[in-house]
Amino acid sequence: MKNLMTVVSQENIADKIYEMVLEGDITERMTTPGQFVHIRVSSDTSNVLRRPISISDINVEKSQFTITYRADGDGTKKLTKFKAGDTIDILSPLGNGYPVEANGNVLIIGGGIGVPPLYELSKQLNEIGVKTTHVLGFNSGKDIFYEEKFKALGETFIATADGSYGTEGFVTDVTRDLTGEFDRFYACGPKVMLKAVSDELDIDGYISLEERMGCGFGVCYACVCDRADGTQSKVCTDGPVFRKGEVIL
Ligand SMILES: Cc1cc2nc3c(=O)[nH]c(=O)nc-3n(C[C@H](O)[C@H](O)[C@H](O)COP(=O)(O)OP(=O)(O)OC[C@H]3O[C@@H](n4cnc5c(N)ncnc54)[C@H](O)[C@@H]3O)c2cc1C
Ligand code: FES
Repeated sequence: MKNLMTVVSQENIADKIYEMVLEGDITERMTTPGQFVHIRVSSDTSNVLRRPISISDINVEKSQFTITYRADGDGTKKLTKFKAGDTIDILSPLGNGYPVEANGNVLIIGGGIGVPPLYELSKQLNEIGVKTTHVLGFNSGKDIFYEEKFKALGETFIATADGSYGTEGFVTDVTRDLTGEFDRFYACGPKVMLKAVSDELDIDGYISLEERMGCGFGVCYACVCDRADGTQSKVCTDGPVFRKGEVIL
């Protein structure tokens, strides 16, 4: 499960947003969109806890996958220092991802750093003939990434909280006005967004939680969340993807 991957490239694609392509044999086990990698950001003892980052794009033929992350804190800023040819210690692939099923017409909703895993999801859904409509929310125009990539897969709407690009407001300000009939939604983003989307959309759906993590593989209980049935789940092994209504938001 622990692997040394080689950095193929690293690029700054929006304000504080970086895209890193990694290469290694483990890519062939990355089949499900929504899974994540757990990254050791430095070899010294300054950042003992790994950082969980979603897999945003998988290229099994090339044994390469992509992560897309915001460099805001100490650990993710260290991640920006890696360059092509460096090796990086990751645990992967972790967690349960989104089910990829033929289901006519789906809505894909992402907020901020919740957007990355939805790209691989949309790619895989399009490959099996599902029609995808994307609604992506960001704080401001400078934070937007992957708009063109999503547009290549289906109709794509952008909302910004400050109104500097697209619809002013939140993703729900866009979904409220959509006229199409949707069979299912898939969402990833801040909890407040997941709650608003789950409450407002009268269809079945899947959400992905970005809970703080310790081990990433089920032994430390750092990521426990409450389920609607009164029991608890570990986000790292039972999730991060859950069915709408399964966990308390
Ligand atoms: C399953 C999963 C998938 C994720 N996918 C992505 C992604 O694709 N792109 C991306 O930019 N971010 C993603 N995140 C959030 C990312 O893990 C945090 O932003 C990152 O760990 C923060 O680390 P830092 O070094 O910037 O901050 P620091 O403040 O240095 O972090 C201190 C500690 O808090 C934890 N932490 C801080 N903020 C968060 C947060 N929002 N969520 C979880 N842990 C946090 C860190 O992991 C670390 O253990 C994901 C989180 C989870 C759980
Ligand atoms: S992060 Fe350790 S149990 Fe989930």
